[in-house]
Amino acid sequence: MEKNAKIYVAGHRGMVGSSIVRKLNADGYTNIVTRASAELDLRRQLDVETFFERERSEYVFFAAGKVGGILANNTYKAEFIYDNIIMATNVIHSAYRYGAKKLLNLGSSCIYPKFAPQPMKEECLLTGSLELTNEPYAIAKIAAIKLCKYYNERYGTNFTSAMPSNLYGQNDNFDLETCHVLPALIRKFHLAKLLRQKNYDEIKKDLNTFPVGFSLNLNLNPDLILEKLGITSEYLLLWGSGEPYREFLYVNDLVDACIFLMERYSAKEIGEFVNIGTGEDIKIKDLAKLVKEIVKYDGEIKHDLSKPDGMPRKLLDISKIKSLGWKSKTNLEEGIKKTYEWYLSS
Ligand SMILES: NC(=O)c1ccc[n+]([C@@H]2O[C@H](COP(=O)([O-])OP(=O)(O)OC[C@H]3O[C@@H](n4cnc5c(N)ncnc54)[C@H](OP(=O)(O)O)[C@@H]3O)[C@@H](O)[C@H]2O)c1
Repeated sequence: MEKNAKIYVAGHRGMVGSSIVRKLNADGYTNIVTRASAELDLRRQLDVETFFERERSEYVFFAAGKVGGILANNTYKAEFIYDNIIMATNVIHSAYRYGAKKLLNLGSSCIYPKFAPQPMKEECLLTGSLELTNEPYAIAKIAAIKLCKYYNERYGTNFTSAMPSNLYGQNDNFDLETCHVLPALIRKFHLAKLLRQKNYDEIKKDLNTFPVGFSLNLNLNPDLILEKLGITSEYLLLWGSGEPYREFLYVNDLVDACIFLMERYSAKEIGEFVNIGTGEDIKIKDLAKLVKEIVKYDGEIKHDLSKPDGMPRKLLDISKIKSLGWKSKTNLEEGIKKTYEWYLSS
């Protein structure tokens, strides 16, 4: 990838896209193209084609998508499958049609079967049924992988996909209705700590800075809002049993891997797609204890067993990316501390 090559980062305002742009700038890339969804809705085929025809970007990082945690995935199933499939179809087709030299499609570890042998190797794609809470999202992500594969076969394009584990970091989504487990834990422990300190000014500031979900009226008394979120002055109620294991990758590490792949490897060398993770997972219960310590919350933790757990385990086999010469650098504690600092400064 030449330093003055035209590079389109789709989804540049999101957690992954914003980190890609920061790293490309830091690495001396000078010709980066971006569009917010308000300027270019990637679900609109004609608009996407017109944009690609005009810009003729040489490299494409496809990091746009409808993304969310278990609650959002389970609630907005139609939107998750429609938006993600149509965005992928439009971007991948237009990248081919207007001559992109290379495209990197961002997928997710949700593509793997619910009971895939652990750690999950790339080869176990489509070998069993998916976890139902995120099936629509997973099917859209699998469709995007296959689009890249079949466009390469049919048209000789150089399109490939990266499958990261759960991501977290700067610019993460902290909306408690749609966010993933780690930002939800950070925010809930932080609010619970403020409640124990009776620091209502900071609670109100937090509730006005980050969304709390569609069903909560911000004019309510803060104690009531927090209670609806499972936060009381004595305890914090967490979703699910805390028994599942999850793997977490700091977003800057993912981006390091994406740029590494884009700069050094072709789709032929990478194959259909490659897992990107740390190779280590943690029980959600233990993750909660770690976040509790970092945030310095001194109350109790309880579990709401009526809420779904999702897949029992989702550990990626990272042998392939390791054999290409890449490994992650940020340990979980360090990454959570950095994310909490960013959250506090927002
Ligand atoms: N977060 C994770 O834990 C995780 C894990 C594995 C894989 N991934 C994958 O990584 C990619 C990026 O995720 P993320 O966490 O960075 O997501 P994010 O923070 O929610 O950002 C998503 C981006 O997509 C853009 N977007 C959404 N709908 C759009 C539309 N209709 N037209 C144009 N742009 C649209 C948004 O643009 P605007 O801001 O301009 O609206 C936003 O910048 C996704 O493919 C996701 O599946 C994420």
